[in-house]
Amino acid sequence: MSGRTREELARWARDLEGKHPAEILAEVTAAFPRGRVGFATGFGPEGCVLIDVAARAGLPIDVFTLDTGALFPETYALWNRLEARYGIAIRRVASAAADELVPDGAPPPWEADPDRCCELRKVLPLRAELARFDAWVTAIRRDQTADRATAAILEWDEKFGLVKVNPLAAWSSADVWRHVRAHEVPTSPLHDQGYASIGCAPCTTPVGAGEDPRAGRWRGRSKKECGLHARPAARTTATPTPAPTATSTLPLAPERRGFILWLTGLSGAGKSTLSRALRGSLASERPVEILDGDEVRAYLSAGLGFTKEDRDTNVRRIGFVARLLARNGTAAVTAAISPYAATRDEVRSLAERDGVPFVEVFVSAPVAALAARDVKGLYRKALAGELARFTGVSDPYEAPERPDVVVRTDVESIEESAGRILEHLRARGLVRAAAPPAAAERAS
Ligand code: ADX
Repeated sequence: MSGRTREELARWARDLEGKHPAEILAEVTAAFPRGRVGFATGFGPEGCVLIDVAARAGLPIDVFTLDTGALFPETYALWNRLEARYGIAIRRVASAAADELVPDGAPPPWEADPDRCCELRKVLPLRAELARFDAWVTAIRRDQTADRATAAILEWDEKFGLVKVNPLAAWSSADVWRHVRAHEVPTSPLHDQGYASIGCAPCTTPVGAGEDPRAGRWRGRSKKECGLHARPAARTTATPTPAPTATSTLPLAPERRGFILWLTGLSGAGKSTLSRALRGSLASERPVEILDGDEVRAYLSAGLGFTKEDRDTNVRRIGFVARLLARNGTAAVTAAISPYAATRDEVRSLAERDGVPFVEVFVSAPVAALAARDVKGLYRKALAGELARFTGVSDPYEAPERPDVVVRTDVESIEESAGRILEHLRARGLVRAAAPPAAAERAS
């Protein structure tokens, strides 16, 4: 947990209560190595205030924004104004989905499935970005939503696995606007046109007098959060909507909770070998189970073939069992090709909805290298046209767009790959100190 226990963070948070955001940010930036504190802003008045506070104090905070490709023109203009005013660069972080074209006649993604749209354009890119930080600063305030009412000044972010700092948690909207006026902080001109909380253009409308400030977000839907600040059910004391499944309340303390380590990649890329190499290091801290595609297909998924439907069913089953295991303290390591990005994302969402950390590892090697090695002789058959629907040859493999870790098994040794995965798990606080992985023979 970034070197601190939950109790230490809680004590630190209590110490920071009542301090000015400038003091909070100064303490936080001093406590972490340079470059390891990030701030994701959507350019609300709160975010602009924090930029002002940090920039005037010259604090080393890496400011970035999630560009969904659907922001208001006024938001893009404000981004430029803030950079010019404070002489800082605000980095653009985007997913490939932001530039995706909608086929003629199809509903735009924010109408077809707003949750998935937020997931692809905000949550996944943010998750990938946060991997480089020890702490991230947010501009949330306690009086914004019931969900945010319990936010501490500083807390462990269960969802993203790093420290979350909310310097404005105790401020009211009036406090924010007072600071804006006193320091002439640039803010969006849309606030004068009745927009309170501003997100993406298609999903934001103005609010009427007396309406909740967030009423204009996803109007007509129960949705009130894009998922960035949604707090895990087990730690939330005030939840505005019912928990999604009966299984969301976790019986275990977070420290004792397991996780899912999802290895995806072509046949023969080394998923099974890696999973076995990792087992030893992980097992010193918690039980480990490996769900291997070949084994699962012999039992749980017996009878399934290799159509998209059958592969999706197989992957969902593996995801389901992995989630049950992880929820009960086990490190569930999966080794299945899992070729479809949407199905992997679905499995991830279900896990995270249950508060189960999910780590996606892309076990990457070019088809040519795998065909040359061809441990099972399947590439030869597939290339000769004797094996239909063979992944990477005659069937698709959708490489993860933003995996948590990429290992290159054609150029790295298994020990190097396993070592880098463990390093990531350590950085996420999912393992403490792991011994180097035991040597393992290279097979599938
Ligand atoms: S998945 O696509 O449903 O995730 P899974 O990992 O369970 O696949 O099974 C893949 C294993 O089945 C491969 O490692 C390989 O040994 C074997 N296999 C047999 N036929 C195929 C095929 N057409 N495509 C991919 N793998 C195949």
